Amino acid sequence: MDRCVSFPRRRFLATALGAGAGGLWLPAPLLAATRALTPRQTEGPFYPVEIPADSDRNLVQVAGRPEPAAGDVVQVFGQVRDDSGRPLAGGQVEIWQCDAFGHYHHPGDRSGRADPNFQGFGRAVLDEEGRYAFRTIKPVPYPGRTPHIHFAVSGPGVVPLTTQMYLAGHPLNDRDFLYNAIRDPAARDSITVAFRAAPEIGPDIEAGRFDLVLGRSL
Ligand SMILES: [Fe+2]
Repeated sequence: MDRCVSFPRRRFLATALGAGAGGLWLPAPLLAATRALTPRQTEGPFYPVEIPADSDRNLVQVAGRPEPAAGDVVQVFGQVRDDSGRPLAGGQVEIWQCDAFGHYHHPGDRSGRADPNFQGFGRAVLDEEGRYAFRTIKPVPYPGRTPHIHFAVSGPGVVPLTTQMYLAGHPLNDRDFLYNAIRDPAARDSITVAFRAAPEIGPDIEAGRFDLVLGRSL
């Protein structure tokens, strides 16, 4: 999902620079602010009180437990950049979500019945190209919310971002207050992900790509 909206400006700059632009000075923001920022969403009440001992990129397998998590397994992957298009190499992505039955590993979830085989939280370091990937379950609804995965992203030179990712076409999206709090349809689309069968990863796995754009802090 390339959210570059600056083609006319780029063309203009290319022309200007091409026309004997030696010594032409252009302020960095004019050259660089090309990508729409990923919209911010509330952290919600269920960020872990304590980071679990196993908080790796595979949320469907908890260390020391033989059974996998209940739910439909998906791969969520993507690339994180700043609004000039620079990959956020070495940054950090955290995700958290409820289990296949709508319960969080959190004292605020009074059921106390969260799936012990579901990690519920994972953390990844972005590679040189700003890429990440998690193995997790396809999110499900819980009372009052359409399916979503919480994301928190941070890294050098950017303003940390907390947001949520949604499932394309889910019927509850239209009634979700947080999803619809984003009024701009293009901004809403940027946090809405279509999942597809991914036989190259596994026979029963779907994959969805969620790219994020963070603002620079300098
Ligand atoms: Fe949530």
